[in-house]
Amino acid sequence: MTILAIETSCDETAASVVEDGRKVLSHVLASSADMHAKTGGIIPEMAAREQLKSILPVIEEALKKAFPSQASNLQYLSSNLDVLAVTAGPGLIGSLLVGVETAKTLAWLWNKPLIPVNHLVGHIYANFIREFPISNFQFPNEEPKFPALALVVSGGHTDLVLMENHQKITWIGGTRDDAAGEAFDKTARLLGLPYPGGPAIAAEAAKFEAQNPKSEKLQMFPRPLINENYFDWSFSGLKTAVAREVSKNKKLTGEDLQKFSAEIQQAIVDSLVIKTMRAVKKFKPKSLLLGGGVAANSRLREEFNSKIQDLTSKISLHVPPPKFCTDNASMIGAAAFYNYQPVNWRKIQTLPELTITGEI
Ligand code: KG4
Ligand code: ZN
Repeated sequence: MTILAIETSCDETAASVVEDGRKVLSHVLASSADMHAKTGGIIPEMAAREQLKSILPVIEEALKKAFPSQASNLQYLSSNLDVLAVTAGPGLIGSLLVGVETAKTLAWLWNKPLIPVNHLVGHIYANFIREFPISNFQFPNEEPKFPALALVVSGGHTDLVLMENHQKITWIGGTRDDAAGEAFDKTARLLGLPYPGGPAIAAEAAKFEAQNPKSEKLQMFPRPLINENYFDWSFSGLKTAVAREVSKNKKLTGEDLQKFSAEIQQAIVDSLVIKTMRAVKKFKPKSLLLGGGVAANSRLREEFNSKIQDLTSKISLHVPPPKFCTDNASMIGAAAFYNYQPVNWRKIQTLPELTITGEI
């Protein structure tokens, strides 16, 4: 089954062609991140306006890349597709509308079924992608197995869910305030680092680690709720703690910046890893899946890897290549394949507040 998937929930405009939920034929993405770096964060109205400009060229490029040997007429290229998929929510209303209304129009024009997809569930399905012919990414040999525990850590969400099968997802825990990615973004701003904060903090932290290889314990910032038995997180206190430390310094030196970054990264990574591994011990899944932009973080990936190796009963760890952790349309195509539920395009709505277990 060949799916054209569209994703515009935040600041990216993305389209991919995906075969049978596993093989990516094309993966196109236009980002307005540079524009948001200048303003220190996303201005929703500006993101949507950029998406409006790039949505059709991005879709056209995705189709041409997927079927390079064919005539470049869009109507003709669309005859290769069986179905369309689009992110319906959660996300920014203006941004979602660009993708959803475009997908509805194309579904009508090309007379194809249309599947609305939950963006957060999409992040989990990045782990089902097995082939990406344009690069030499290493995907794990094994497919994820059920029951699976999935941790979605993005800019707006932190959710831990148990998946008994493709259709049955139960929420186990999540953040009570800021999301993990938001914690990176907001503390980066306090340090004067650019948006998005996650990669910027990770880069500074890497410089610190290169000079201080594992010698020092990084414990400057709190890990709230870490000893509680439930699986909730709280990241908003981190901002306050970082702001307090920053205000003690008149001007941050390069070294301060690196040290603070390493401390922030470690506080977020510890919180995520400790709680998730506790859930692994409780729910005994066969696989652990990570997804969302924060899952691109190397320290987080390393720590989960080592904790999974230490387990006596073996489970498989699945983490998408970084390109599939951050927002993209391939994951939406994968999710649509495994949850094949087309909806009449007239009934599809944008759902900005959709939760990970919410009905579409
Ligand atoms: O999943 P995503 O691309 O978009 C949302 O659905 O929100 O996630 C974006 C988030 C941002 O907060 C960004 O700072 C964070 O992911 N992020 C990272 C890294 N790359 C992106 N956080 C930590 N380390 C990274 N390498
Ligand atoms: Zn996302």
